[in-house]
Amino acid sequence: MKHILVTGGAGFIGSAFVRMMTERYPDYRIVVYDKLTYAGNVDNLLSVHDEPNYHFERGDIAAREAVARVLRDYQIDTIVNFAAESHVDRSILDADAFLHTNAIGVYILLDEGRKHGIGRFLQVSTDEVYGSVPSGFSVESDPLEPRNPYSAAKAGGELMVRAYRETYGLDVVITRGSNTYGPYQYPEKLMPLFITEALDDRALPVYGDGKQIRDWLYVDDHVSGIDTVLHHGAPGEAYNIAGEDLRHNIEVVRALLHELGKPESLIQHVPDREGHDLRYAMNSDKARALGWERRYTLDKGLAETVRWYVANAWWWRKIKTGEYLEYYQRQYAARLAASDDAAV
Ligand code: NAD
Ligand code: TYD
Repeated sequence: MKHILVTGGAGFIGSAFVRMMTERYPDYRIVVYDKLTYAGNVDNLLSVHDEPNYHFERGDIAAREAVARVLRDYQIDTIVNFAAESHVDRSILDADAFLHTNAIGVYILLDEGRKHGIGRFLQVSTDEVYGSVPSGFSVESDPLEPRNPYSAAKAGGELMVRAYRETYGLDVVITRGSNTYGPYQYPEKLMPLFITEALDDRALPVYGDGKQIRDWLYVDDHVSGIDTVLHHGAPGEAYNIAGEDLRHNIEVVRALLHELGKPESLIQHVPDREGHDLRYAMNSDKARALGWERRYTLDKGLAETVRWYVANAWWWRKIKTGEYLEYYQRQYAARLAASDDAAV
């Protein structure tokens, strides 16, 4: 494997993967192909900008001709697809872009990849495709039961990946990561939103009672898992990559405030997310059997993440303008106005 197309490589997890791969494999050519949506950010790739094995092309994974050209120009033999619309709340407001990228885009990449004759296709997927898991831990053979537009579109993409394996014999692998956090995460997801808002002493809008459960995975552990599956995964197989560190949201929020030295009075319970998945939990034995190991506990990763946002206000202050403020208004203004502290 030498020439890897990393689609969505300017986003949060994709850019961490690119930073790791350029360093781990100086003899690979790493080509980022990214549309640069609101979530794509070239600042995430500043540290690799001058690496001789790194290239950047702007484009949409659903644009067939542009995809074909990049595959050809860079003699790509491997695709790792991070490109997605990734935020559940935005998918509830409007799912068009989610279907475009997470389902149609995956199909175009598979189809052009197949025609071009690529070796391996790795689809980066999510624990959300299993739906809400009231108890126990999802294993890879469990049915896909997504419950929101984001996860339904991701499951659609995954099913097409499987179809290309069965129909055309394409060498595909799938990773399903759990809730990922760390440096360079767009401040719309729980951790970066709450850290950056708390730094400005603003209210933290906790949905409902905050008793929902997520499984937290530090970004470096997620991308090392993807690397393991890319190199050692069996064709046609899916692999869970979980933090195996389950917490109630409210515990995570309290831990963030404690780490920041900010008061719990910033917590504001607001009306819940529609159709909110109560619990995600996965078993990662299959990925571990390939040699992957998680290195960060939530306590360690959370402290590291808080330190990074405190030290890198230049990165997130630029983002918290324009489109971001419009989104914040749309998502939170009515919720915060309707918030009822009696729900605590
Ligand atoms: P992100 O929103 O930070 O980044 C997505 C990137 O994809 C951006 O750079 C964006 O510009 C690009 N993109 C979007 N549409 C595109 C298109 N049509 N063509 C080309 N590029 C496009 O997302 P992230 O959190 O880094 O997630 C990356 C992947 O990991 C996604 O597939 C997501 O479903 C999956 N995932 C995320 C998490 C998580 O907790 N963040 C957990 C498990 C899996
Ligand atoms: P999020 O980071 O959006 O990831 P996901 O929906 O993929 O799990 O949310 C993590 C959890 O935090 C989820 O249960 C929703 C909750 N949450 C809030 O309570 N308030 C918020 O403002 C956000 C963004 C999330």
